[in-house]
Amino acid sequence: MQLRIAVTGAAGRLGRHVVARAVRAGHEVIATDLPGATGKPDGRVEWRGADLTDLEQTRAALAGAQAVIHLGGLVHPRYPEPEVHRVNVNGTYHVLVAAEEHGLDGVCLASSINAIGGVYSAAPRYDYFPVDEDHPTYAEDPYSLSKWIVEQQSASFARRRPDVAFSALRLHGLRDDAASALRDGQDERNRKDLWGWVSFDAAAAACLLAALRPTPGHAVYHVVADRTTTSTPSTELAARWYPGVPLRAPMAGTAGFYATTRATADLGWDPADDHPEIGPGERSRLPASA
Ligand SMILES: NC(=O)c1ccc[n+]([C@@H]2O[C@H](COP(=O)([O-])OP(=O)(O)OC[C@H]3O[C@@H](n4cnc5c(N)ncnc54)[C@H](O)[C@@H]3O)[C@@H](O)[C@H]2O)c1
Repeated sequence: MQLRIAVTGAAGRLGRHVVARAVRAGHEVIATDLPGATGKPDGRVEWRGADLTDLEQTRAALAGAQAVIHLGGLVHPRYPEPEVHRVNVNGTYHVLVAAEEHGLDGVCLASSINAIGGVYSAAPRYDYFPVDEDHPTYAEDPYSLSKWIVEQQSASFARRRPDVAFSALRLHGLRDDAASALRDGQDERNRKDLWGWVSFDAAAAACLLAALRPTPGHAVYHVVADRTTTSTPSTELAARWYPGVPLRAPMAGTAGFYATTRATADLGWDPADDHPEIGPGERSRLPASA
């Protein structure tokens, strides 16, 4: 069954891809963004202007939806630090409150690999490679902190709504395709966030799969391509930039530094496919056993 899916941050870089993909998958979309940033109504897309830092506006934006993909927010260092915290943390809280009040049963939140610290850290700390979703956080900047808090907000709301699926997606370095990721990649510059990236298409697919996830409960997922932004072998990168960090699994060739087995197992998401076809898991909520 197709759903009515609310997408926040719908006018943003990833939001535009998610809206288009949701429509292609057969859904109706309530696309919401700041007043003034909204697009024009288009077929199955209804636009609603809302500032997510205002609870009433957020309630109105999500009314009538069955699931939400929450992408709206601010990325440090383009914005003042307190504003990043206010928008990302309060905005997500309001989305979760509105989702609960309206009885939405699929909640997908944009987190980031920076939830554990990374590109904005002075000297990021990693305890092991590949990094999995259980790695401790060493976040120290407001954006990364806000994303860590987003994940705790998701877990908290999930505890009081045990029948609902809550997913926090740790997105990373959104690019059009592998060629642009490789073109921009630099071994030294990309060392802090471990040469990771993901295509807009693949990230949009993960958003839909998460919003329609049939299994309830809160989960954090790495949504990162399975190969790096460089042709330098991953074991060489690890030895050069992170000597002493243990490898918990072999990292052949240019294998990615972020484990994605959880997203593969739970969501059916493929970290190797940059432009996935729309599959049944994006079209409708399948039985958990499917
Ligand atoms: N781009 C990346 O590489 C990347 C990596 C990791 C995580 N993320 C996360 O993914 C999400 C989408 O990223 P993006 O690159 O599309 O960002 P973007 O900046 O292109 O889009 C964000 C959208 O949020 C909207 N917004 C900002 N403040 C708002 C408010 N108060 N109320 C309502 N809407 C508001 C903006 O108008 C914008 O359209 C963000 O949450 C971001 O933190 C992105």
